[in-house]
Amino acid sequence: AEVAGQYKVRDLSLAEAGRHQIRLAEHEMPGLMSLREEYGASRPLSGARIAGSLHMTVQTAVLIETLVALGAEVRWASCNIFSTQDEAAAAVVVGPHGTPEDPQGVPVFAWKGESLTEYWDCTEQILVWPSEQGPNLILDDGGDATLLVHLGLQYERLGAVPADTRPGEPEHAEETNVVRAVLRRSLDADPLRWTTIAEQLRGVTEETTTGVHRLYQLAAEGSLLFPAINVNDSVTKSKFDNKYGIRHSLPDGINRATDVLMGGKVAFVAGYGDVGKGAAEAFRGQGARVVVSEVDPICALQAAMDGFQVVRIEDVLDEADFFITTTGNRDVVTAAHMTRMKNKAVVGNIGHFDNEIDMAGLAEVGGVRRTEIKPQVHEWTFPAGPDASGAERDERSIIVLSEGRLLNLGNATGHPSFVMSNSFSNQVIGQMELWEDVQRVADGGEARYERDVYRLPKHLDEKVARLHLDALGVRLTELSTSQAEYLGVPVDGPYKPEHYRY
Ligand code: NAI
Repeated sequence: AEVAGQYKVRDLSLAEAGRHQIRLAEHEMPGLMSLREEYGASRPLSGARIAGSLHMTVQTAVLIETLVALGAEVRWASCNIFSTQDEAAAAVVVGPHGTPEDPQGVPVFAWKGESLTEYWDCTEQILVWPSEQGPNLILDDGGDATLLVHLGLQYERLGAVPADTRPGEPEHAEETNVVRAVLRRSLDADPLRWTTIAEQLRGVTEETTTGVHRLYQLAAEGSLLFPAINVNDSVTKSKFDNKYGIRHSLPDGINRATDVLMGGKVAFVAGYGDVGKGAAEAFRGQGARVVVSEVDPICALQAAMDGFQVVRIEDVLDEADFFITTTGNRDVVTAAHMTRMKNKAVVGNIGHFDNEIDMAGLAEVGGVRRTEIKPQVHEWTFPAGPDASGAERDERSIIVLSEGRLLNLGNATGHPSFVMSNSFSNQVIGQMELWEDVQRVADGGEARYERDVYRLPKHLDEKVARLHLDALGVRLTELSTSQAEYLGVPVDGPYKPEHYRY
């Protein structure tokens, strides 16, 4: 029972329920299961010690157990305070062959409803291993594990946690204070902790748009500490998970939270990137009238050509029944906007961080009252009087989902297994790429990955898609040699040039 004493989850007695769900998810995750089949014997991740920070759901359990089947040692935390499925976390700790009394799985530090302090403590736990040897790879979603290493090392070199705000710290003052407290304690415990951790790290694979954005910033500044693989921009990730995953899990989150009918209503979607496209399509599928906002003229034109009216949020404040942010940007819905919304409008964010909706500003609106309808569903009531535009209003309220954090994971269970099998197959392949490079260098070979951000090669992207075709009964047409020559592509792919956009 190696894992004993080294985990923190809600309740291990949930493990059996989690195991049943994992078993069903495995059936829906053909990509991960065929990677287990292909590499289970050669165990290419032997020696890899992976610190994972990604929503601790049932699908992630299948990812974790795939990494283990390929030889890796793993420690895990969630990348959001509300996204853990406690039964999945318990099942991963217990493992397929353990019992709640004798857990034999993977150390997980995650439960649904963590405080911010608990969240960052858990993130630290996946990086500080009990043995001398810490993690050599990070698997990240949103970049918080990567951020903690970079900030920890920065502070350690300064000899202290600085008093003034530094670039690279989290967006919110409250969260920055928590991170600083965690790092201060960590530096007190071991003044060279982050140097030791950073020296052992050989790379990171990053799951999402927002995390990838952070990595490109670090690389541009020249401060990225290790190579990074951008999993998000594999075609089989962002064009599937971000779009079709959201198409499924956005209505799931809204339904479980509110059970408010979408048909016939007006739904406002901020952003028409990959996530926004999935969100708009989901609302349309339910019979809602969908309006979209954009800052990018190309995406705005796409939305218009797809039949969505493109507006500014100010145009629809008193008209829309749903306001959903998908931008990965800050301050998209302000407190002033919220005071002007229709009575009982539902407000939610499905982008990665909680800065798209100004929750702090909302709490400061004069006379505003917050009522918990149930966990992750809150009614905010504004008193009668003038709203932010000066218009006289009766008392009215709005419903805010998951306190402004991503609602599909806070109010529901995130994307379904089949789409996550695509994303996570890219993750596993990314981890194998980085680990193979470490071994190549150890054997005197040349490194393929430097301190920069890379995408996976197209033949691997096509491989991930291929692994999911049989399950859907897809019969792929094969190129003849003369057709392949005519197009100038190999019969077995890659079929498209790098600049092709799908
Ligand atoms: P994207 O870059 O494809 O799309 C974002 C769009 O928002 C862009 O087209 C941009 O022009 C637009 N935008 C930016 N500022 C805006 C503003 N002020 N008003 C209106 N539009 C604005 O990014 P993607 O892949 O769609 O991801 C969006 C967010 O969702 C990211 O934070 C990402 O990490 C997150 N995400 C969340 C998932 C979930 O399960 N909840 C799954 C995948 C991604």
